[in-house]
Amino acid sequence: MRLKAHPDKKHILITAGPTREKIDPVRFISNYSTGTFGYEIAKEARKRGFFVTLVSGPTVLKVPAGVRFIKAESAMEMKKAVEREFTRADCLIMAAAVSDWRVWSTKSRKIKRGQDRGKVLRLVENPDIIKEIGRRKDGKILVGFALETEGLLKNACKKLKEKNLDLVIANRLSSKSGIFGDKKIGISIIDRFGKIKRVANKSKRELAKIILDKVEAFNI
Ligand code: CTP
Repeated sequence: MRLKAHPDKKHILITAGPTREKIDPVRFISNYSTGTFGYEIAKEARKRGFFVTLVSGPTVLKVPAGVRFIKAESAMEMKKAVEREFTRADCLIMAAAVSDWRVWSTKSRKIKRGQDRGKVLRLVENPDIIKEIGRRKDGKILVGFALETEGLLKNACKKLKEKNLDLVIANRLSSKSGIFGDKKIGISIIDRFGKIKRVANKSKRELAKIILDKVEAFNI
């Protein structure tokens, strides 16, 4: 089914998936993100008639129909795409698991084993994409995620403030069940007024609806 964006509906920019930070032509550092959450949000936003741009790191997921799709491999590529697309967007939902570091010096040739036992990989911090956008958000709605192994609400609230977000989706990473992929999870949604909504044991498709209800409550 192909849906047409409603002319009055606004533009939501969504990021999803991991980033890959290249070490040499055959290796990279990354994380376990599958992109499922961001893709479900993109599908639901499109269903609601929003104009949707999805900036995605590498995933095996099918590109949702009717969505403008932009690939970004590294954090720096994602930053460039988000900054460019944000000028035309009304809302940014940053569901991507952006790598916090990149490799200091990417090698153009494959690093060979043997010469250097106990090799040390020098890393440099990547820019915080949503935080930089938050400094000049221009009245637009910013939604971030907070993935925590401890201090869930405290750390999520800190991210909400420091990154100048309107909503933060707090996700606890438990060593037992994990949160990656398409399993049911619980989240807490905290808004800029400090109101907390807890949602337990739902699929990411169901959670996408709840998150977009919250976004739409800002009258975008
Ligand atoms: N984020 C970002 N740019 C980065 C890192 C994260 O825009 N370089 C965004 C994520 O997409 C997410 C939010 O910031 O919406 C929080 O990401 P998270 O990984 O939970 O936290 P960090 O800010 O990276 O802090 P820490 O890893 O120390 O918890």
